[in-house]
Amino acid sequence: MTALRLFDTHCHLQDSAFDPDREEAYLRAQQAGIGLILAGWDQESSARGVAFAQQHRNCWAMVGLHPHDAKAWEAHWPEQLARWVRQPKVVAIGEIGLDFHYLHSPKAVQEEVFRAQLDLARQWDLPVSIHSREAEAETLAALDEFPGIRGVLHCFTGGPAFARALLDRGLFISFSGIVSFANAAEIRAAARMVPWDRLLIETDAPYLSPRPWRGQRNEPMRVVRVGEVVAEEKNVAPEEVFRHVVANTLQVFPLILTDAKNWQD
Ligand code: NI
Repeated sequence: MTALRLFDTHCHLQDSAFDPDREEAYLRAQQAGIGLILAGWDQESSARGVAFAQQHRNCWAMVGLHPHDAKAWEAHWPEQLARWVRQPKVVAIGEIGLDFHYLHSPKAVQEEVFRAQLDLARQWDLPVSIHSREAEAETLAALDEFPGIRGVLHCFTGGPAFARALLDRGLFISFSGIVSFANAAEIRAAARMVPWDRLLIETDAPYLSPRPWRGQRNEPMRVVRVGEVVAEEKNVAPEEVFRHVVANTLQVFPLILTDAKNWQD
């Protein structure tokens, strides 16, 4: 039904790192048959992601406040999110979560803002894209307060045990370029055990270029390389991974399908 071969299920093409060549990076992904989901991290980036998605085919957006920026949460946020999620091309709340590594926002504020956005997503029956760093137990505890929540643990950096706990809670698991790094044996072990019907991949561009481009600015078309690494781990052809990722993306972000004129050729 579609010309799309693959999705980059989490990227930040609205980031200023793409100011010199955003349209070119988008076109390179289009030519490779890759659909994009742009993740917001604060007010401005969420608005820019929605605007870009509305102006470009095979492009969708999610809106939310990242744990780094949680201290920017104010009383107007729920209403702002409500306005965005009523707009075309907005398919999820994200990225949201907990990051106890950098602590750019205090832990207690992150916990509160994460829960506020989980609560809204569940009210609106929207999936979430979750960032979790050095906060595995706390992430699971928050998820347990919102049974039935749908979504993805993005840029997975845990091992098989954390993957198992997320799968048990119904979440999808998305691997980024980190899966290709030399010191990522535990993440590759998780990639081997995640079942086909819960697997996603992403770039998180402009961050986290896979090998052999580690350290360079990343871009959405490199999601192909992430898929190749996962395919090696699972001992299948890359196209097999891509096929499951397309099916799973539509499963977890079903609003993509309501946007038929942007989806079909
Ligand atoms: Ni991200």
